[in-house]
This record gives sequence, C-alpha cells and structure tokens, in this order.
Amino acid sequence: TTVEWEAESYDMGGHDTYMHKEISEQADAVDRVLRGRIDDRFSTVHLGGLNLDAREARGVRRIKILGCGTSYHAGLIGAGLIESLARIPADAEPASEFRYRNPVVDPDTLYIAVSQSGETYDVLAAVQELKRKGARVLGVVNVVGSAIAREADGGVYVHAGPEVCVVSTKCFTNTVVAFALLALHLGRIRDLSVSDGKRIIEGLRKLPEQIAEILRTEDRIKEVAEAYAGAQSMMFIGRVRGYPVALEASLKLKEISYIHAEAYPASELKHGPLALIEPALPTVAIVPDDDLLEKNRAALEEIKARSGRILAVAHREQEKADHTLVVPKNEPELDPILMGIPLQLLAYHTALAMGRDIDKPRNLAKSVTVE
Ligand code: G6P
Repeated sequence: TTVEWEAESYDMGGHDTYMHKEISEQADAVDRVLRGRIDDRFSTVHLGGLNLDAREARGVRRIKILGCGTSYHAGLIGAGLIESLARIPADAEPASEFRYRNPVVDPDTLYIAVSQSGETYDVLAAVQELKRKGARVLGVVNVVGSAIAREADGGVYVHAGPEVCVVSTKCFTNTVVAFALLALHLGRIRDLSVSDGKRIIEGLRKLPEQIAEILRTEDRIKEVAEAYAGAQSMMFIGRVRGYPVALEASLKLKEISYIHAEAYPASELKHGPLALIEPALPTVAIVPDDDLLEKNRAALEEIKARSGRILAVAHREQEKADHTLVVPKNEPELDPILMGIPLQLLAYHTALAMGRDIDKPRNLAKSVTVE
C-alpha cells in the first residue's frame, strides 16, 4: 500500500498545481529551516534535536547518508557539504542498496537517514537494521513524528511544510539547507575557522532573497522549457558539487515529463556518453563560476563540436551554450542549492507544455511504504 495524501485538505493558493505552489514557497521554506538556529556569537548553528554532544561529534570518523529518490540526491549534496565544511569523509547511498548488501556497520560511523515523509520503507528498514547492530542514526526528516523520526537517535527537522505533489521540490531544497546547517555545526566543533563559519552564515542568510530572485525569472525559464519540450531524451552534466544537481534535475524531468533523461559527471562524457551527442539530444550543463569553470567550459566545447544543443545553468552567460539560465552567486558550497531551483521550473514547464499530470505522475507514489 501507499500513503494517500489528503490533497484536498491543502489550499492551492491560486496556483494550478501543488508543484507550482511548492516551488513558489521555497524562499519562505528556507527562511523557516534557518530560523532560530544561527548563533552569530560563535559563528555556528544550534540544532536542538541532534542528540550528539561536542565530544561525540568529534569522535565521528565517517558519515554515511541513506535515502531514496530525491532524498538520496539531497544526501549526495549533503555529503559534499559535510566533507568540505567539517572535513569528515562522507558519502550517500540509496537506502535499499545499503540494506541488501550486508553492510559493514562501523561504530565510528554516524549514519544519517534522509526522508521527506519519514515513512519510506527502505529507509526505515535500513534504520532499524543499523540500530539493531548498535549504530547511531540521525534523521533528516520533514514530517514531524514520522516513523523514521521516531526511530532515529536524533536529527534535524527540515521544516518545509506539507508537500503534496508526488515529486519533491521545496523539501529537497530545505533538506540540502538542513545539511548545510549540520555541516556547519560539525565543522565549527572541529576545524572550520570562525571566518569560514561567518562566510557560510552570510551565504545562508542570502538564500531566501536569491531564491525569490530566481523565481522572478520564471517567464524566461518557461520560454526555454518550451524550446526543449519536444526532445526524446536529454543529458544532464555537472562536476563535483554540480553532479548531484544534474542527477536531481534529470530525475525531476523524467518523473513529470516522461522524457528520458540521464545525468553524468561532466568528466565522464569522454568515457562513453559523448557517443550519444547529436543535435537531437540536448544537454543541460551546470556551470558555476568556481574553480572548475574552465573544465566545465571545455565540456561545453566538446558538445558543441558534435553539434549538441546546450542549456547552461550558470552565474553568467555561457557563449558556447544555446541558452543560459543565469542564477545569483552565493558561496561555492551553497551554490548547488540555488542551481537546483531553475531546473525544477524547467521540468515543470516542460511537463506543462507536454500536457502531463504534474502532481500525480503515472506509476509513482508520494510515499512508498512497501518494499
Ligand atoms: C517516492 C517519491 C519520490 C521521493 C522518494 C523518497 O519514490 O515518488 O519523490 O523522493 O519516494 O521519499 P521520502 O519521503 O523518503 O523522501
């Protein structure tokens, strides 16, 4: 069985779909996940429900993040944030894969279960198995009091508010912000400097206004989406921090438009997918103005040389691209949060142009509470 949401009980607030409403709510939602948690005095954040004191946090040798679907992708970005801010080795894995491979459960590893609903069976089962083996498990969950939240030793609520559309948007964004908070908290207990702490806090505070700024460019995103809506298939590429953004954007597009899409690290193009590039296969490229900019531009050139069409999501116009969606710049660690937003709208307007049932895509459920 699957959980049936009482969609009718939430007001659409003048939007045609819940997905559009939920995308539009993201500036406020991010404001909520930050509220009351920032501590300027020590350039850190307080996370009341973590249940992990400073001594325990210092003893963590490794972090393993588990989730499914969009929550798994949020976990991949979260792992990157933890590695860069807290310098703790971290990675994310689909919860179901983890469960079935008889994982080595290590006492110095902190496990983090990510779930919007807090009810996804594969994640819950992984948490139960970990607890049975004596591991410490935190939850990064939206629904307060849900099964995973109850089962975990502690965690961070993402406070995105109710999400009705089957595909996750505002919850994804808030989950990534919650990971940024956790990474900052762990970093400041370990080796992250006061000035880096301040830098990240300033970046976090800028997010709501920058999200609002991106949302104001919706007409342009719609125009671009309509230019690509006829594609049979689309490629998404990104590098390091941009790669999970590409994975999530390709998932969103396939879920609601039914266009086949796949995501690759930009560096892997030459090891296979370049064979697919031709005018009929457009590429969406994540191109932030960071230390990898030149590498990313080289990938755009490779695609152009094969007559591939390119849509770039970047901090400034990319001349190799046919279209660029320009997003405001934040701190490099937080850029993935902003780069994901126009791609939600891209998927939305592509699906709309194709007449899809956006809030209830075929064959999918909001919450998968069975194996
Ligand atoms: C289902 C939904 C996805 C979601 C995944 C995990 O497959 O269709 O949109 O990302 O479950 O859900 P959770 O509630 O655990 O985040």
